[in-house]
Amino acid sequence: MKTLIKNGTVVNSTGSAPADVLIDGETIAAVLAPGSTLLGFDVENNVDSVIDAAGKYVIPGGIDAHTHMEMPFGGTFASDTFETGTRAAAHGGTTSIVDFVVQYAGENVLDQFSLWHEKARSNCAIDYGFHQILSDVQDSSLTAMDELVREGVSSFKLFMAYKGVFLSDDGQIVKAMQRASDNGSMIMMHAENGSVIDLLVQQSLQAGNTTPYYHGMTRPWQAEEEATHRAIMLANLTGAPLYVVHVSAKQAVEQIAQARDNGQNVFGETCPQYLYLSLEDQLGASSEEWGDFEGAKWVCSTPLRSKHEGHQHHMWQSLRTNDIQMVSTDHCPFCMKGQKDMGIGDFSKIPNGIGSVEHRMDLLYQGVVDKKISLERWVEITSTTPARMFGMYGKKGVLQPGADGDVVIYDPNGHTSIGVGKTHHMNMDYSAWEGYEIDGHVDTVLSRGKVIVDDNQYLGTKGDGKYVHRGLSQYLI
Ligand code: URP
Ligand code: ZN
Ligand code: ZN
Ligand code: ZN
Repeated sequence: MKTLIKNGTVVNSTGSAPADVLIDGETIAAVLAPGSTLLGFDVENNVDSVIDAAGKYVIPGGIDAHTHMEMPFGGTFASDTFETGTRAAAHGGTTSIVDFVVQYAGENVLDQFSLWHEKARSNCAIDYGFHQILSDVQDSSLTAMDELVREGVSSFKLFMAYKGVFLSDDGQIVKAMQRASDNGSMIMMHAENGSVIDLLVQQSLQAGNTTPYYHGMTRPWQAEEEATHRAIMLANLTGAPLYVVHVSAKQAVEQIAQARDNGQNVFGETCPQYLYLSLEDQLGASSEEWGDFEGAKWVCSTPLRSKHEGHQHHMWQSLRTNDIQMVSTDHCPFCMKGQKDMGIGDFSKIPNGIGSVEHRMDLLYQGVVDKKISLERWVEITSTTPARMFGMYGKKGVLQPGADGDVVIYDPNGHTSIGVGKTHHMNMDYSAWEGYEIDGHVDTVLSRGKVIVDDNQYLGTKGDGKYVHRGLSQYLI
C-alpha cells in the first residue's frame, strides 16, 4: 500500500515547508517538493491512495509519554483500558503512548512487566512503549533494571510521595539512580515531599476541611520545590539523568532551569492541566450535581496551582525557553460515579488523576493560535522531544524517509469543541475540559501508514498498535 499526502505544509520541529509525503507500507519513503517526481517517476499516478492536505499541516503523530491505562491506584483502576484509551488518543492525533508498568512493594518487577505486556498486547489502537515504576528498590529490582533496558524499557519512575503505596526513601532512590547511571537509563521522578503532605492532609481533615479544594491546599508548591531540588541533588550525586514528571509549580521549574544551567542532565515535563486550570477555578468549583465535591474532577498530583501566583503563565514561558522540554498528559482517568465519589467527605480518598489523552494535541495547538508557542515548537514538545527523550527518534517524532508513517493532518481552519456532552472517546463519565474551544481540528490520523481516524471516524482495529522497543535517551547533554 502506497499513500501520497499532497499539497500540505509539512511541519517538523526544525521548520515547516510545503511538501508531499510518500508512505510505502508502514514507512515514510520520501518527503518531496510539492508535485515533484521521484527519479523521473510520476508519484501521484503510482500510489494506491492520495490524500489532499491543501491548507493543512502535516505533522508527525503525537507521542504521549505519560499515561496510566487501567492502572491499579487509589483503591480502583484507571477507567480507560489500553483499548479505550489508545482509541481516544488516536482520535486526538496521538499515535504513540508510553505507559507505566506498576510495581508495588513486594511485587517482582519482571512479573509486573509481563503482566502489562499481557494487558496491552492485541488491544491497542496505536503503538505503545513502557516505563517501569519502582516502589521498593529490591536487589532483584536493580538487576531487573538492566534486563528491562534490553527489553526496550529505558526509564524508571520513582515516587517521593504516597507513603505506603509508591514512596521510595532517599536511600532507595539513590540505589536506583546509581544503577541508572551505570546502565544509561533515565530516572523519572514524582517530586513532592510525601511526609509533609501526609501531615498537612491529616491536619486538614482533623480541622474539618475535607473538600477537593483542600487536596490542593495540602500539597503546596514548597513540597514540590523541595522534592525537585532533592531529586536534582541525588541525581547530581549519582550521575543519573533525571526527568521530573508533571511539573506544576514555577519554583520547581526554577530548580530544573538552574540544574540545566549547571550542565546537569535534568529535564522537565508539564501537562495541559497545569497550563490551563487552577486551584480556585477547578478544585474550588461547585455544581448543582456535586456541590463543592465538583472539584474532585480535577484532583491530581501534583495539584493544580493557584491562579494568583503566576504558575500557568510561567509554565507556558518555560515551554518557550526550553526550561521545560515537553508536554505529556499524565492520563489517569477516573469516573465521578463509583470512583472519585469514594472521596466524598474525605478528599484524601479521591483517586488522583485527570483524563486528557485525547486532547493534548488540540490544547497545545491552541497555544500556537494564542501565540504562546510557535508551530514548530508545538510539534517539538508533543512529538519530537518525547521521541528523543525516550529513545524512539528516527522512527517516531519526525517526518523523514525511514520514519514510521505516523502522520497527523491537522486543519488550522477547523474547529474542535471539547467535551460538551459525551463527545470525547475516553472511558469517563465527565470531561475535565468541558467547554474548551480549539481553533483547529485533527482531520486524519495515520499509524504506520494506515488511516486509523478520518473525519472523526475511527477506522482502525484493536491490536493495530505494536510494542515499541525503545533505546536509551537521545536527548542527553
Ligand atoms: O494524579 C496523578 N498524577 N495520578 C497518576 C499517578 C502519578 O503520580 O502520575
Ligand atoms: Zn506521579
Ligand atoms: Zn502519572
Ligand atoms: Zn476538519
